[in-house]
Amino acid sequence: MVKAIRVHELGGPQVLKWEDVEIGEPNEGEVCVKNKAIGVNFIDVYFRKGLYYKADTMPFSPGFASFPSSEMWEGLTSSPLFEGMEACGVVTVVGPGVTGRRVGDLVAYVGTPMGSYAEEQILPENKVVPVPPSIDPIVAASILLKGMTAQVLLRQSFKVEPGHTVLVHAAAGGVGSLLCQWANALGAIVIGTVSTKEKTAQAKDDGCRHVIVYTEEDFVARVTEITSDNGIDVVYDSVGKDTFQGSLASLKTRGYMVSFGQASGAIDPVSLSALAAKSVFLTRPALFQYTAARDKLLEVAAEVFANVASSVLCVRVNHKYALSHAAQAHADLENRKTSGSAVLIIP
Ligand SMILES: NC(=O)c1ccc[n+]([C@@H]2O[C@H](COP(=O)([O-])OP(=O)(O)OC[C@H]3O[C@@H](n4cnc5c(N)ncnc54)[C@H](OP(=O)(O)O)[C@@H]3O)[C@@H](O)[C@H]2O)c1
Repeated sequence: MVKAIRVHELGGPQVLKWEDVEIGEPNEGEVCVKNKAIGVNFIDVYFRKGLYYKADTMPFSPGFASFPSSEMWEGLTSSPLFEGMEACGVVTVVGPGVTGRRVGDLVAYVGTPMGSYAEEQILPENKVVPVPPSIDPIVAASILLKGMTAQVLLRQSFKVEPGHTVLVHAAAGGVGSLLCQWANALGAIVIGTVSTKEKTAQAKDDGCRHVIVYTEEDFVARVTEITSDNGIDVVYDSVGKDTFQGSLASLKTRGYMVSFGQASGAIDPVSLSALAAKSVFLTRPALFQYTAARDKLLEVAAEVFANVASSVLCVRVNHKYALSHAAQAHADLENRKTSGSAVLIIP
């Protein structure tokens, strides 16, 4: 038996239950990982609340609304939900046929099968990536999913180049902090938005040339002013409902709208004519579709870890909680009380 956080009914942070679970032994091609640290991500909140389930299906059934046909949602057919999509730990058992991993290896993983909010997890060997010895497990669990997301956004969805003007919403958040640092290192002029004055300092430290407190100022007007009416090359919008229209309005002609999250709620339907007004490009990337192939997963993870080692990325592990206190971590994340990364620790 191991301890794990599971969800039996969708709802607020209180539905995260600390329970004994039987995980069994690794089968062919699987490894058992004893977790040391577990990344907390906004996607965990979406799953806990049921954002990714159709309203007319049972919780945890495969009636998945937003991403209709991806194998990344395997494992969601069972009830209850095993929460969590990211962790770093040590391989303790290898199943038959495993050739690439050995007992004692430090590894990290993101995505499915879900269930990283646990003391131990069984995973296919091809889902785990090696963690360089120079990287602390808490740092690895704080950066892998968020850093890989930043890699996909800045290097693949839209390729940021020196001189581009980039708008990053929630610039002091987990992904936002890394986006700002990395875009700045790529030579972009970074404009960040944050909800409070307290979050401004971190965004500036992370390379934002301009920081807009978007709860107090009209960010579209400020972007227009900053860019002398030219607009921005690209916006990375994870806030969704509250910012989407303003983000579109902030773009220059033929600019790129990269919508990758919805922390404030689901985005209203978008009309093609809204895009035609400035011939803008719209993409809605999902990390796991960029890293589904094993070679891509390894390549993107290695680039993230290399950027940590070379100090291009400074991981802000601003919030640590015991695994059993995952509900508090969720409450803080949802209530915009966090900045940088939140991580669950197993002593
Ligand atoms: N597409 C993908 O593959 C992918 C992968 C990873 C993450 N994501 C997305 O990236 C975003 C950031 O994830 P994260 O884990 O790093 O979280 P986070 O940015 O640390 O936390 C979310 C932030 O969103 C902002 N926010 C704005 N309106 C909000 C509202 N109504 N409720 C709560 N927060 C609000 C808050 O920053 P302020 O207080 O400064 O406004 C908050 O700190 C999420 O939307 C997530 O879904 C997408």
